[in-house]
This record gives sequence, C-alpha cells and structure tokens, in this order.
Amino acid sequence: MQTVIALGELFSAEGRRDPYPFYAGLHQLGQAAPLDPSADRYSVVVHGYEAIEKLTRDPVFRILDAAHLDRLDGRDEPLWRRRRSLQVLQQTVFFLNPPDHTRLRRPLAQAFTARRMAALEPAIVRLIDRRLDQVEEAGAGGRTVDFMKLFAYPVPSDVIGELVGVPEEDRPWFPPRSEPFSLVLEPGRQNWRYLQAGDAAAVELTGYFEKLVAARRAESRDDLTSTLLEARASGSADFSDEELVANLIGVYNAGFLTSVHSIGNGLILLMDRPAHRAELRDRPDMAPAYVEEILRYKTPVQFGVRYATEDTEVAGVRVPAGGEALVLLGAANRDPRRFPDPDVFDPHRPDNHTMSFSVGPHYCLGAALSKLEIQLALPMLLRRFPRLALAAPPRTLDLMTFHGYQEIPITIA
Ligand code: HEM
Repeated sequence: MQTVIALGELFSAEGRRDPYPFYAGLHQLGQAAPLDPSADRYSVVVHGYEAIEKLTRDPVFRILDAAHLDRLDGRDEPLWRRRRSLQVLQQTVFFLNPPDHTRLRRPLAQAFTARRMAALEPAIVRLIDRRLDQVEEAGAGGRTVDFMKLFAYPVPSDVIGELVGVPEEDRPWFPPRSEPFSLVLEPGRQNWRYLQAGDAAAVELTGYFEKLVAARRAESRDDLTSTLLEARASGSADFSDEELVANLIGVYNAGFLTSVHSIGNGLILLMDRPAHRAELRDRPDMAPAYVEEILRYKTPVQFGVRYATEDTEVAGVRVPAGGEALVLLGAANRDPRRFPDPDVFDPHRPDNHTMSFSVGPHYCLGAALSKLEIQLALPMLLRRFPRLALAAPPRTLDLMTFHGYQEIPITIA
C-alpha cells in the first residue's frame, strides 16, 4: 500500500521558505508518491532525480497546454481564457507541446547559439563592472546597501535586456511587472490571489513588447527581437505577432528573475562558507563547478508540472489519463541516490549535474547564458569587495516559483 501524501506542509510559508526537510521525507518513500487530487490538484508528486529525468523525456507526459486546461475546467468558456496573464503564458514555449512547441522553440533556440553567448561575454563583464561601481559608490564609508537591489537584480536585467533588445532606460520598469506576472505560476490553493496583479502586469508587458516589436520592424538591431522578426520575414520561422509578443515576455521573465535569485542564493551560500568564498575568488577555473553546486543546492525554480495523456505510471505510482504530476526539481537536486550527502554544499562533487534547468524537450534555453553570467558575476564581486559582509539577516522570498531572497543587507568596507 503506497502512502498518500499531502502537500499542505510544503505549501505553507515555512515549507516554501525551506522545502528541504519535506523533500528529505519524500525521498524516504522512493522516487514518487501518490497524492489525493481532490485535496492537492495533482495526482502524483515526483521527487527522485532518475524518475524526473525519465518523466520529462516521456512523450506520455506533456506540459499543461490550453487543451488540457480546457478539459480540466469543463465549461464552455473556461475561466483561464479570461485571465490575461494565463492567456499570454499559454502561448509561450513553456506551455506548448509539439507541433506548436517545436515551431516556436526552433527559432528561439537559433538565437541562443554558443557563438552568440560567447559574443555576449565582453558585454556581460562590462555590465557587471558598472554595477560593481554603483555598489562601491552606494556602500562607501561602511553604509549598508541591499545587495539584491543594487546587484542581483540589475545584472540579469542588463544581460537579458541586451539579449532581447530592451533599452537600458526601460529596464528598471520591469521588476514590478515581471514579478507579479510570474507569480501566477506559484503552486498551491491560494494562487488565485496573484491573478489580479498578474493580469494587470500582463497587459502592461504586452503593450511594451508590442511597441518594441514595431520599433525593431521599422529598424532592425542585433538582438533577439530583430532576429525573430528576420527569421519570420525570410520564411524560416512561422508565428503570429501575438505569439511573438507572448514569447518575448516569456523569455524576458524566464531569463531575469531566475538569474537574480541564483546570484542572491550564491552570495548567501558563500558568506556562510569562508573557505569556499576564498577558493571561488582565487580560482576562476573553479567558477563552473561552483555555479553548478549553487544551482543544485538551492534550486531557483523549485518545480514543474506535467499531465499524463493516458493511464500510466511513474516510479511505480499509477497516474490516470489527465492526471497531473508535480515535478519537484528542487527535491531531485537533493536526491541521496544521485548526490551522496545531498545536504552538504560541495563544489568538488564528482559528476555534478544540476536538475535546475530541467531536462527533455523543455530544457532551459537560457542555461548556458545564465551559467555564464553567474560564473562571471560572483568571482568579480568577491574580488572587488574582499571585505563584503552581511549587515543583517537576509529577508527570504518564501516562494517556489523563485526560491531566493527579497533583501540581502551588506556592507563592503
Ligand atoms: C539560473 C537561471 C535559470 C533557471 C534556474 C531556469 C530554469 C528553467 C526551467 C526549470 C525550465 C523548464 C521548465 C519546465 O520544464 O517546465 C526553463 C525553461 C526555459 N528557460 Fe530557463 N532558467 C534560467 C535562466 C534562463 C535564461 C537566462 C533564459 C533566457 C535568456 C531562460 C529561458 C528559458 C526558456 C525560453 C525556457 C522554455 C523552454 C521550453 O519550454 O521549451 N532561462 N528554465
């Protein structure tokens, strides 16, 4: 008899702040456990590394597309179709399955080539240096500054802005819109409370990107928006204007807040571990291993969701057709079967490979870019401010969509 799990504890404020004790309990039950869908919406929770790898590559499990949401709602006019935020999200690669997923992902992927990423590196170094100058100025004379506000937010905002083509003066406009827009994805029973703010943000973001698309159509530049427009004009890509705008919003948000919290999480992990901090500062060759371990140890996006297209099973747990699987990427990263002593932060782990970017057809398109920016940002920060110290305990965010910190007060002198 399999134990039916309840997710109340995980979806409490404490569970969102620190889900790892809950995950440790799950790992004792195997790689997946049945849920009561009348209590928790999902049919199964999947937390084992191997089970997640298998499920996310299995075509029987699909991303929650519009057809699934329509069936779930059952009404002639399903509720989600009246929510602007969900309408936008459902047109992005995140919530499409083939053939639409392939149609939209291909032109996007072409814009994320290794060559383009390598070409961005000098620009990223320059952007980081400039933000470090601002931290230095604000923190002069021992003044306390908020690391999130002055560094962790601006650096990814600059990088994704460069990539997508959002001009510098517009970038500060985004955080108050990106956050509520993304929060409509926060799992749990109360997520409806995020919808109103998410819808308002979706309207504003749509308006912004419609104007950006019009500007790039009039005059092309070297950015993702122009690349996509050129691909469509040349006949090598096929998408509507609405889909283009939705996916620019999707890429912008995906690339922004995930990296913000990875940088914040990285700093906190290093502040608690002086020997690691010194090693990362002095050995740039170790930066990739550090970033992999930071992303494993504190997973920025804790979960994904899939539904089963037919009766099936995952790691021995039955899933009915239409049943949803809550895929806990954060738990996979602490799976003791995959990572010995999973709760130890150890950048020297052999065969380390984080699950933080998922696997399979929805594998993160920005994985290489975000790794690069974190690999550059953290060592540059540590080298510039050898006396960097926490000025007060950081304030946590308590979310599963973005696992990280609201505020990290620091001093640099
Ligand atoms: C540390 C930073 C990042 C993390 C942890 C992260 C995490 C993820 C995860 C978990 C997924 C898969 C979702 C699923 O399977 O349900 C994903 C997909 C995606 N990510 Fe990232 N991401 C990061 C940075 C970025 C950046 C910088 C960009 C863009 C510049 C980006 C763009 C995307 C896109 C477009 C997808 C959708 C791919 C698809 O559905 O086909 N991400 N990301």
